Amino acid sequence: MNKTETPLADAIAAYIAKARRRGHMPGHKGQAAGLLSRFGELTAWDVTEADGLDDLHAPAGAILRAEQLMAQAISVEAAHFLVNGATAGIQAAILAAAKPGETLLLPRNAHRAAWAAMTLGDIRPLWLEVAQTAAGLPLAVTPRQVEQALSAHPEVKAAFFVYPSFYGVGGDLAGCLAAARRHGVITVVDEAHGAPLPFIAADKSAARLGADLVIDSWHKSMGSLGQTAVLGCNRPGLQPERWLTLLQSSSPSYPLLASLDAARAAWQEQAAARAEHLRRVRQILADALTGAANLRLVGQGDLPAGFTYDETKALLYSAAGHSGGQIAGKLRECGVEPEFAAGGFALLLLTYADTAPKQLAAALSAADAGLLAVTPEGAPNPAALPLPQQAMTPFEAAHADCEEVPLTAAAGRVSAGLLTPYPPGIPAVGLGEVISAEMVEMLQELLNAGGKVQGVTDGNVMVIK
Ligand SMILES: Cc1ncc(COP(=O)(O)O)c(C=O)c1O
Repeated sequence: MNKTETPLADAIAAYIAKARRRGHMPGHKGQAAGLLSRFGELTAWDVTEADGLDDLHAPAGAILRAEQLMAQAISVEAAHFLVNGATAGIQAAILAAAKPGETLLLPRNAHRAAWAAMTLGDIRPLWLEVAQTAAGLPLAVTPRQVEQALSAHPEVKAAFFVYPSFYGVGGDLAGCLAAARRHGVITVVDEAHGAPLPFIAADKSAARLGADLVIDSWHKSMGSLGQTAVLGCNRPGLQPERWLTLLQSSSPSYPLLASLDAARAAWQEQAAARAEHLRRVRQILADALTGAANLRLVGQGDLPAGFTYDETKALLYSAAGHSGGQIAGKLRECGVEPEFAAGGFALLLLTYADTAPKQLAAALSAADAGLLAVTPEGAPNPAALPLPQQAMTPFEAAHADCEEVPLTAAAGRVSAGLLTPYPPGIPAVGLGEVISAEMVEMLQELLNAGGKVQGVTDGNVMVIK
């Protein structure tokens, strides 16, 4: 196979060149009129399953070939293109790995897509707590935790891991996967934030470490368009594509699909240069913050043994104890919009497209100086609370009668939805879990501090009657 081949992008370009009158969707018919003119050529590329353009749900032509090239690039037996983000891939993978009534082992920092899958598929969660550093940085589950849980719960059918986390922390995935294998458990790895791994550190990628199903969120760091991601499968008998067909749109966006094809080819051509670029950007930022008054860059030295830091991120904290929100505020004043700020951290994603690292470094230095005039304030940390008690399964909670009550009156009630501080977007309370008095206080504190909690609308939450 020619690695720089882009079969799907080429097929669309060839279709456009035929200049056929479009008797098909989308209704703009390729004309970039009015507001759409801002999208320029993209509108012409916005086609559908026309002659020669294959079908995402039964790929046999250009899409199949593009997926095969992707599979080869990321070391999986089969790759499936996703147009509803890693979210759809996580849902399909979990639904393929466990049947109704079966149990899924998963860390408490799992993305809400895992909640969706458990709710749709009537799958029971068995949670693993995720330890934090003294500074409140969530780590990752350990092989020991996995081994203990699987020994105590032989009913577990599948295990889900997050690697690396949204914050950039990776655990001993090889050890966790080995423990799962010893117990005959199917493994799903949410590598949403580690999509560059197969290209910049292939031996550390979840697929190479032996995961059965791996989800990479390409739009986050690889240069494809928003919502694109890839589900990789190393155990074809699981057939996650059966679930994807049920979960994904019947009208997938061709610009999104073609952007995956193009981004994969670019990475294959430039992997070494991009890996070097990422190292250089990180080093420039680290150098700029050496001797800074407040701002620090989280690195390997901030983590206990057994955890690794993902160097494609710049996670900032303040030595003086400023909150992530305060750091983000200063960054914005200095012209930088972070990916997220939560607790005591603000995160910048670093990618191949950070083409002006010196300017970015200068902005970080300016933000650091600006923080000197800001009195540090702490930030609430809902992940530090004990695991909520589970009163019913997510499936039961989703089907139970519910009512709206003020958050302030919700202590002791069973949540009918997800209460998710955003960012970082990890549910603090899930469907079927009891909302504790401490949690009410914590969420209230977050809201009072100007934070957002998805699932709280006008101060109200949905609870089971
Ligand atoms: C750890 C993790 N997994 C999965 C997702 C979902 O990714 P996507 O936005 O591609 O659906 C996110 C989103 O931020 C995430 O942080």
